[in-house]
Amino acid sequence: MSFTIAVAGKGGTGKTTISSLIIRGLIKKGKTPVFAVDADANVNLNEQLGVKVEKTIGGVREEMLDTIGAGKMPAGMSKETYMEYQIQDALIEENGFDLLVMGRPEGPGCYCYANNLLRRYIEVLAKNYPYIVIDNEAGMEHLSRRTTQKIDLLLIVSEPNPVGILTAARIRDLAKEMKISVGKTGLVINRVNGELPDILKQEVEKYGLELIGTIPIDDTITNFSFERKPTILMPDDSPSTRAIGEIIDKFVA
Ligand SMILES: Nc1ncnc2c1ncn2[C@@H]1O[C@H](COP(=O)(O)OP(=O)(O)O)[C@@H](O)[C@H]1O
Ligand SMILES: [Mg+2]
Repeated sequence: MSFTIAVAGKGGTGKTTISSLIIRGLIKKGKTPVFAVDADANVNLNEQLGVKVEKTIGGVREEMLDTIGAGKMPAGMSKETYMEYQIQDALIEENGFDLLVMGRPEGPGCYCYANNLLRRYIEVLAKNYPYIVIDNEAGMEHLSRRTTQKIDLLLIVSEPNPVGILTAARIRDLAKEMKISVGKTGLVINRVNGELPDILKQEVEKYGLELIGTIPIDDTITNFSFERKPTILMPDDSPSTRAIGEIIDKFVA
């Protein structure tokens, strides 16, 4: 059985960085291969994982529609086999993790058939992995649109201020309204300077959020981002990788 972790939160809160560091931490714990999913249309998790993207699921969908629409299917190949082959081709296999990039979301037109096929196949594929980490874009809409899969742990990343906590609570409520199947929701407050101020502890409590951990401002992250170095290569002894390690220990045996 795979355990699915979805990382959500407002833009710029640190979702992609935290996704990358969780993937890193899971690999360190030997929970491999990790299935990394970049569900942000502004594809960028790959950079933090240090890999190049040639093909996205959005691209596969377009290609399928073109090929099937134009009757250009390879002779003797079913649509299903053709799609499976295309998805395998889009899957980036690395040491310790495989990455699938969703890319551009479907347009408003009816791509239902292609989407349902894709979704179903990705779910089957995901079953091969002990841990799945999904880096989401801001907003929750696509979470329900793109996957019907159950989320075991929804990590909501927040800025270290009261408005950030309120936004995190709204994201949790939205996930509930959208009937996304979530096992547990945990709040992660990023860029915390020292101790978490009491006022923020009170806000967390007020909204009934469960704080799963805090992550300090980390110069190593800043340096890596300036040098465009993949954060998956960050050292064990930096404040943020240690904080992520503590979070992982809370849900990984
Ligand atoms: N704990 C942290 N310390 C220092 N810089 C951080 C930290 N978390 C994130 N950042 C920086 O903040 C920016 C936004 O982070 P990112 O992970 O891309 O956010 P999101 O995916 O939510 O938009 C990046 O430049 C990243 O390097
Ligand atoms: Mg991001």
